[in-house]
Amino acid sequence: MPTEDGATAKRYFRNAVERHWSPYEVDLTADRETLTELSRSAFTQLRATVAMFGAGEESVTEDLVPLAATVNRESDQRFVASHLYEEAKHAAFFDRYWTEAIRPAEDARGLEPTEPTDGRWFTDPYETVFDRTATAMNRLLDADTPANRASAFCHYHLTVESVFGQTGFHAVEATFGPETDGPSLPALVEGFEAIRQDEGRHVGYGMDRLAGLLRSKRVERSFVEETVAGLAEPVDAVVEKMGWERLPGPDSDGLAAFAVQQRRDRLTQLPDGDGAGRRAAE
Ligand SMILES: [Fe+2]
Ligand SMILES: [Fe+2]
Repeated sequence: MPTEDGATAKRYFRNAVERHWSPYEVDLTADRETLTELSRSAFTQLRATVAMFGAGEESVTEDLVPLAATVNRESDQRFVASHLYEEAKHAAFFDRYWTEAIRPAEDARGLEPTEPTDGRWFTDPYETVFDRTATAMNRLLDADTPANRASAFCHYHLTVESVFGQTGFHAVEATFGPETDGPSLPALVEGFEAIRQDEGRHVGYGMDRLAGLLRSKRVERSFVEETVAGLAEPVDAVVEKMGWERLPGPDSDGLAAFAVQQRRDRLTQLPDGDGAGRRAAE
């Protein structure tokens, strides 16, 4: 459905206001205990996951600024302001989780305290995804063209927030969520659920804008497909390692398949090259 009148942004902004949540109110008590008792390798993997999410949220907060500076319709400005605020809130949740749940567990386990920014938690493919996303977003400040906007939405909303983020949420929820019989991390899962709800609006907005660019033929579908495909290799290299061995939840193949499906679903939601919608974006 065409939304050039800004109806989507308006609706999402209102939804953001009405579904407000606080990262400071999530009770971390049970998680502290579970983290103290996890196996050493599972605890290391958990710290890497939280560090990657925390750094990711920091990056997307900063990387959204060029889009905030570029949109000029009032409803878009309001929505992007809420989007930026929510990314900062997500970053604050992971910060707090590190300081108030992971750090005490490190103490209890007799480990040296670590920082979520330590290089040990990040791999080269992870850095590649975020470096490329920052470049794509900053390009909007040089030239606000349809191609640069499409590239920004493909990197940020379609790939980082949707394919990457959703696969990470899935890994954590399917491993530590209430539906599994493994160790439970209720605060982490609660935070992820609230974040996932916010991300639904962010991805919905980016997809709506991308669909608009395709529908009006200001960008070619092949450009979108190539941009998304160009990011697949580093994204898949990271998501394949997001699971936990010897715990419930998806293995490496399951996570890779989940990411592939996410990517396919998003592309299916976008209009065809001839301007006809395959399926309406969210
Ligand atoms: Fe976020
Ligand atoms: Fe987001």
